[in-house]
Amino acid sequence: MLETILKDEEVKAIINNVNNVIIVNNCGCHGMGHITRVMNYVKTILVGIGCDEHTIELGQISAYLHDIGAVMGKQGHAERSADFTLMYLKKIGMPDEDIHIIEHAIRNHSGGTNLESVVGASLTFADKIDMGRERMMRFIDGIPYHDNVKHILKVDLNVDNDNITVNIITDGSFDYSCLKDHSKVVIKPTEMSKYLNRNCIFQIDGKEIDLYSIVTEKNKQL
Ligand SMILES: [Fe+2]
Repeated sequence: MLETILKDEEVKAIINNVNNVIIVNNCGCHGMGHITRVMNYVKTILVGIGCDEHTIELGQISAYLHDIGAVMGKQGHAERSADFTLMYLKKIGMPDEDIHIIEHAIRNHSGGTNLESVVGASLTFADKIDMGRERMMRFIDGIPYHDNVKHILKVDLNVDNDNITVNIITDGSFDYSCLKDHSKVVIKPTEMSKYLNRNCIFQIDGKEIDLYSIVTEKNKQL
């Protein structure tokens, strides 16, 4: 089913058009670059926790379609993506129980609330850790998060029996205190890890840093 969906030129055209629509107001890429990275992260998580081929395929389909509603703007995009996905997957003949898992994962992906499946938890995890400079379509000078995220070259993910390790690879000039202003990229993966029965470990260039304490400390002060 995944192969069929990936070959659908109409779906591909919509995803390729997402960034043209949201570039005016938003800085985060929701187009094909982001989608490809999220698909890879979801696969790494689901393979790493020992899921079967079918669950991994549902995860990849969820990742591929999760932001498609952003073609009409970011506001409400998770709902629109889920509505589109429901209609589309019915049209191509996917079984109802599979459609439900994917639709639910996409509808809740922004907040990662109301979890029902490892597909949903892995999608929210993957979506949030895509925070490297390639995620950004433009940078606004003077905003610490924007000034710093330029220095994130990529984000590597490793999953073993105990931990999901997020390794933020930088050019050496990244100031991680900027994540206090964008704490969901740390808090949501940590929450999702619990559902996936793993600890979430953050590293900067391979060195473990307790980013969760750092970003939640800031939140307590607000
Ligand atoms: Fe996304």
